[in-house]
Amino acid sequence: MKIDIGILGMGYVGLPLAIVMAEKYKVIGFDVDRNRISSLKMGIDKKKDVTSKKIIKTDLTYSNKPESLKNCNIYIVTVPTPIKNNKLPDFTFLKNASKIISKYLKIGDIVIYESTVYPGATEEICIPILEISSLKINKDFYVGYSPERINVGDQVNTLKTIPKIVSASNKYSLKKIKKLYESIIDAEVHPVSSIKIAESAKVIENVQRDVNIAFVNELAMMFKSFKIDIHEVLNAACTKWNFLNFRPGLVGGHCIGIDPYYLAHKSISMGYKPEILFSARKINEEIPNFVLKDLKQKLSFHKIKTSKAKVLFLGITFKENTSDIRNSKALSLALGLKKTCKNILICDPYLKGEDLNLEFEFTSNLPEEQKFDVLVLAVAHSLFLKIKPLTLLSKVGFVYDIKAVFEPHEKIYRL
Ligand SMILES: NC(=O)c1ccc[n+]([C@@H]2O[C@H](COP(=O)([O-])OP(=O)(O)OC[C@H]3O[C@@H](n4cnc5c(N)ncnc54)[C@H](O)[C@@H]3O)[C@@H](O)[C@H]2O)c1
Repeated sequence: MKIDIGILGMGYVGLPLAIVMAEKYKVIGFDVDRNRISSLKMGIDKKKDVTSKKIIKTDLTYSNKPESLKNCNIYIVTVPTPIKNNKLPDFTFLKNASKIISKYLKIGDIVIYESTVYPGATEEICIPILEISSLKINKDFYVGYSPERINVGDQVNTLKTIPKIVSASNKYSLKKIKKLYESIIDAEVHPVSSIKIAESAKVIENVQRDVNIAFVNELAMMFKSFKIDIHEVLNAACTKWNFLNFRPGLVGGHCIGIDPYYLAHKSISMGYKPEILFSARKINEEIPNFVLKDLKQKLSFHKIKTSKAKVLFLGITFKENTSDIRNSKALSLALGLKKTCKNILICDPYLKGEDLNLEFEFTSNLPEEQKFDVLVLAVAHSLFLKIKPLTLLSKVGFVYDIKAVFEPHEKIYRL
């Protein structure tokens, strides 16, 4: 069978997938965002996740015109699945992508969803929209779900090396989808018996991470009141083979801080209100406020006038080694701090001033010639690991090292 693939959504997930798929197949990289498509056509990934060389070298065709999908027989959906202000799942993007596909769906076509959802969403929300085409699932067309597990900014665990879970609406399409992914990745392709199992596996991976980080965040808050360094405690505890190595920190982004709400929504709709999941969310959401309070106490202890304090804030993205700023808790913290300290310089090598678009002084390069009263390490970008923080401090200055990357020192506080 000739394979023509259309990938909907050229974001953090869709673009690398499309480039890898295009090594073997004819691929259309479709995105509704016209600006995104024009910059990709010029070889620029404004998210700075994929290099220009890779964007230009690929045979993939970028398009923002839905009709470009008309000859495809496999559609892969990698559109966002955010939450609304009330923290309920927002399926707008997934519904719109499914509507577009329904216009071009033909007999024998396969639609694979990769976006993170709750168990049952593909069958309850997406398939009925595809059937607007008047084609019938498992008779005329097939659906699969294969969650994306890439870790943006991670050069070790990549699309080709991470085992891929695959699921499908019937055995025939499961075989086809398994073969497709086996042809593009080096790692194991793991088939499961239903779409719901694959959806569940993906969402619980992120919930598990949220819960584990929440536990060490709770310990961090507790141990601060004991005046015991939680990081040294964790290093010691980790010498036991079965102690899980999670570290305290800010939990943001579009996955760990969002996906638990998808699972919670499904669970509540079925009559069970999750306890651990919500406690974890509450703790992780509270951390920026906790750090802010602690920082203010340190400012007062060091007798630094907040109105005059020169603050250097290292890292503003939601995690290390990415330019992704969505739901960044480092940003929430910086915004909170700005209410007290007006003089904040943000330094993030993954961004440019215009990316931030907020009233902060900003630099992409470390201001090595200046001295600061407060240095906040919020994100452990690789570049920051080489910094000698004490050389950047004024006489009265101190460091607040949220990620515990610097060697302990009396002028360096940790979360
Ligand atoms: N980024 C990650 O590290 C990661 C990892 C695993 C899973 N996921 C999941 O993958 C999905 C996509 O995430 P992302 O980070 O790539 O999002 P993203 O915002 O980077 O990219 C999504 C793209 O989809 C486009 N889009 C929106 N509606 C569209 C439509 N109807 N048709 C075509 N394109 C459309 C947007 O313009 C955007 O460019 C989400 O469900 C996310 O939870 C993300």
